[in-house]
Amino acid sequence: MTRFSVARLATTVLALGAAVNASLQIIPGATWTDTNTGKHVQAHGAGIIKVAETFYMIGEDKTEGSAFHNINCYSSTNLVEWSYVGALLTRGESGDLGPNRVVERPKVVYNKSTGQYVLYLHIDSSDYGDAKVGVATGSEVCGQYSYQGSFRPLEHQSRDMGLFVDDDETGYLLSEDRENGLRIMQLSPDYLTVQSETYMWEENIESPAILKRDGVYYMFGSKLTGWDPNDNVYSTATSLSGPWSSWQTFADEGSNTYASQTTFILPLGNTAIYMGDRWHSDNLMRSTYIWLPLEISATTVRMANRVNWILEDVNTGAWSPGPEENQYEGEDATLGNDARVISCSACSGGEAAGYIGGGAGGTVLFADVRSDVDTRTTIRVKYLNGDSGERYSGVRVNGGEVQRMAFLPRSGDPGSSTLHVDLRAGANEIVVEGLDGGWGGDLDRLMVPVS
Ligand SMILES: *[C@@H]1O[C@H](CO)[C@@H](O)[C@H](O)[C@H]1NC(C)=O
Repeated sequence: MTRFSVARLATTVLALGAAVNASLQIIPGATWTDTNTGKHVQAHGAGIIKVAETFYMIGEDKTEGSAFHNINCYSSTNLVEWSYVGALLTRGESGDLGPNRVVERPKVVYNKSTGQYVLYLHIDSSDYGDAKVGVATGSEVCGQYSYQGSFRPLEHQSRDMGLFVDDDETGYLLSEDRENGLRIMQLSPDYLTVQSETYMWEENIESPAILKRDGVYYMFGSKLTGWDPNDNVYSTATSLSGPWSSWQTFADEGSNTYASQTTFILPLGNTAIYMGDRWHSDNLMRSTYIWLPLEISATTVRMANRVNWILEDVNTGAWSPGPEENQYEGEDATLGNDARVISCSACSGGEAAGYIGGGAGGTVLFADVRSDVDTRTTIRVKYLNGDSGERYSGVRVNGGEVQRMAFLPRSGDPGSSTLHVDLRAGANEIVVEGLDGGWGGDLDRLMVPVS
């Protein structure tokens, strides 16, 4: 009797726990504001490493454009809410990490015996003539790393790269050699050097990433079209040394992989997430992240485009499509101080709320935002920002503390920005204001999950 009740109680608690975070969404292509600095996550060309229950996303800081600035590290336990932890490497005075250098596609693996995190990078001159890999090591996943130097792996050119660690803990470098093809090369046991060649494709494929699932290896990559996207492809094998199948697309044909380029494939349980970059070469800091669930069966991989989706369980990778939403037009909200309705031909209803923030402190009040449940959830905003840098707004839900929301540059058709907030069942009040006298993004529309 007692045991039965305890079991029942445990089930109820679990079900409640699941319901609470059930609508936190991953929104590909949106501005992702981190939870502590309040800026868009700058982790381009990223990889993810999990340590205990925490995911660390390590990528390039492109705030200042293409030249090396920082290798940033963010942490999250749910893969949705990211906080900035620090930089593994930052720009130095000279050398590989000096001014005007190319330092791209950081990937980290952990060596249990040495207790070292090993970071590989594409190291290049601004004209991409060096074509090397660089190695750095750290004792903490998200701490400062010490740079060990760069080399051409087995004397070959190496530009876009990735890493893969097999079940037997052998590490591999995936490396694009423009003269010859795409290679898999075995790392030394300490992961610090490259020791032998495992396989080479003669096709020109870059941005390589490997997933292993049920004894099958899947190599993903893109064709070579510079910063512009193309239909990315994959190949499969039951051994890293091949034979590998011919390359096939996995996203809708002609969609250019939903305008993105592979950077990493994150295994979750028996499934995986595709992580890609949507580069904006005119202003690289406004590049966004296209993360989508992969649908894998045997040697077939498919990926559908989604505006938003819910990662329900980071351990199993269980996910569901985006929630039903209530929508609220910016121009229909209560505009305060100098905020006013502006015309915007690409916005829903042809209008938006503009002049938010600024010297007069323009505000937008959504007085009756409905939710069917008490929940922590993701709200989406369609916005415009005609500046070349980020704008920020303060968002206050039900009189609570102000949360920062970032808006990457965006003109023409509205972009998306997202924020994770606590809502209560029934009516909620959401106020959007400027921060520090700056302008916030113009608000076309607010979208809030029904439940
Ligand atoms: C780590 O490095 C040592 C050599 O220092 C090696 O023997 C070991 O296999 C490496 N790999 C792992 C996963 O620990």
